Amino acid sequence: MMIPKQTVQEVLEASKVEEVVGEFVSLSKRGVNRIGLCPFHNEKTPSFTVSPAKNIFKCFGCGESGSSVDFLMKHEHFNFPQAVKWLADKYNIHIEEEEQTPEQIAAENEREGLFAISKFAAEFFNKTLNETDKGRAIGLSYFNERGYSQDIITKFNLGYSPEDWDALAVAAQAAGYPIDALVQSGLVIKKDQGGVYDRFRNRVIFPIHNASGRVLGFGGRILIADKKKPKYVNSPESLIYDKSNVLFGLYSAKNQIIKKDNCYLVEGYTDVISLYQSGIENSVSSSGTSLTEGQIRLIKRYTPNITILYDGDAAGIKASFRGIDMIVRAGMNVRVILFPDGEDPDSYAKSHSASDLSIFLESSAKNFINFKSELLSKEAGNDPLKKAQVVRQIVETIALVPEQLNRIFFIRETSELLNVKEEVLTNEVAKILRKEHYKKQEKHNREQQQKAAGIGHTPSPELGDEPPEDFFNDNLSGGETKTPVKSEISSKSNELEIIRLLLNFGEIEFKPEIAKVEDLPEEKDEEENTEEEEISVIEFIIGDLLEDDISFDDEILNSIYKEYANAYENDRLLNSNYFVTHENDEIRKLAGDLLSENHILSPLWFKSHQISITPETDHAVVARACYECIYSLKVRKISELKKKLMKKMATEGLSSEAQDDIMVEYHRYDIMQNKLNQGLGRIIGGKN
Ligand code: CTP
Ligand code: MN
Repeated sequence: MMIPKQTVQEVLEASKVEEVVGEFVSLSKRGVNRIGLCPFHNEKTPSFTVSPAKNIFKCFGCGESGSSVDFLMKHEHFNFPQAVKWLADKYNIHIEEEEQTPEQIAAENEREGLFAISKFAAEFFNKTLNETDKGRAIGLSYFNERGYSQDIITKFNLGYSPEDWDALAVAAQAAGYPIDALVQSGLVIKKDQGGVYDRFRNRVIFPIHNASGRVLGFGGRILIADKKKPKYVNSPESLIYDKSNVLFGLYSAKNQIIKKDNCYLVEGYTDVISLYQSGIENSVSSSGTSLTEGQIRLIKRYTPNITILYDGDAAGIKASFRGIDMIVRAGMNVRVILFPDGEDPDSYAKSHSASDLSIFLESSAKNFINFKSELLSKEAGNDPLKKAQVVRQIVETIALVPEQLNRIFFIRETSELLNVKEEVLTNEVAKILRKEHYKKQEKHNREQQQKAAGIGHTPSPELGDEPPEDFFNDNLSGGETKTPVKSEISSKSNELEIIRLLLNFGEIEFKPEIAKVEDLPEEKDEEENTEEEEISVIEFIIGDLLEDDISFDDEILNSIYKEYANAYENDRLLNSNYFVTHENDEIRKLAGDLLSENHILSPLWFKSHQISITPETDHAVVARACYECIYSLKVRKISELKKKLMKKMATEGLSSEAQDDIMVEYHRYDIMQNKLNQGLGRIIGGKN
């Protein structure tokens, strides 16, 4: 279809981005905007922002942004005209269609053609199963032997493909489907010596639907075990069937997944169907692939909770370990149930009553810590090296958890379960995160160098013992932001974050102990003071910086800081309004920028701190951000002081006493810096 420009304009003007996006993403109000979990990348904390005023969406996590049309194109894989048409439907705008170019017709028809053929085939297989003698005698009796009710056969639209070589090919061509399209769909295969045959001949058929119920492909199971033939034959990928983004059973399960707020992930078609028949209607399986990130994202549209139900054999255990890590990395909650050896959900559902099944599922789901430790500890026995290996394997998974607060809880649980000190675990997690961080940075540098190759040599930033200045700014949370070039994350951005915190969260109060690094020696005694009072972010930050007599490098940022500090020393707390209406143009503008929605959720800041959790956790998160900011600034300041000392050391004619003094001072800085780095590492590693 070709839509006149004017109509496109009309449709775009009528579209409200929050209404369009709202049909696919659950949005909640935040200030003038709406916010929700980004459908385009994995995240646990919403950074997907919709601005009704600007009529655009933007994800501050992955950078996706645009209008309603962009959203539909990206989310629904529509082309432009399809997106406009969808909007026109929604807003009841009539589209006067213009002539289409032949290529447009071809491209659109190709997909639609494949959908039509798949639908035809599914009906053909289902009819053959239910209405032909052979279908009933062979296919239906097979399903009946497996205990499938007629209801379930109808629900999943199961079918039977006759034994003849080309029953479907003949029927489909008679119905007007061209042979080329049938071949393209994978339903029919071309023979080398000419002629065609049905891919699924003499198999029972499991149609595979997308989330809105359109048939995309098929799985065909053999009826009688035959070593020479594969148990299942599956549709190949096609224009409409992308296996890594499809889950068998999702269409019939999605409502219950939402309702139960959990999705069971099983291994095969028959598991999904048997569970469904036993009243467990919220299960899906991947079909013909091992679990993919796309499939996990698909589930995430409906729930953040997945329970893996795999066989208890070695292959099942291995697959569940892989699944755990993928799900955890996606910021979702994973639980695992291993079935007793030799059983799978299908067989278990058959040999137990629905209520027994449901009790079994409820009572045997384990979180990944319990699951891994039980399984691995059994193998490890009393061998201390192997026991350490168990801890390591659990820690590796914890390090994949993107949300710091959750890491803390997992660490606590592991500590209790395996009787290992929390500090040890925290350090191990921090170590892994740091390694990841450097790896990413090195990869980035390599890429930069490759880019610069020919233009000149790009020096790689030195990676010393201390974290780089962008240590906490960079994405340590396992998400997928680009690693910023070091020069971009200058000392200025460090200072900027502090001012940003002051302006946006200055009046939020917290008990400093929430965010305290418990084992920093200097804070030990405060810890005993249980009746610590709440102080505001401003008091905390300004007080701390004043104590160390720190000033900012950037002129404007420093003047904002100085104003805060002056007021603080006169027992006054400035609020953001003071700066937004400031007489100095630059200050006013900067404050406005830092306060505007876009900046609160600047990608770097947001990624690492994920500010905007729930009202209860906000304070703790903001508090932790304060600590990170300040530590980080101080680490940098000390680095500068150390550099200055080194220069001084190099001046000629220095007396040995002067040299000693410098050495002592240098050493003092080292110690301070180490402490700060430890604090930072712990905060980032998951300790408050
Ligand atoms: N599978 C496949 N090709 C095979 C074997 C398996 O594509 N040759 C896929 C199918 O999606 C299948 C899943 O892996 O559903 C699980 O395999 P399996 O447990 O062997 O099959 P079930 O579906 O459980 O079948 P049944 O209960 O009839 O043995
Ligand atoms: Mn099975």
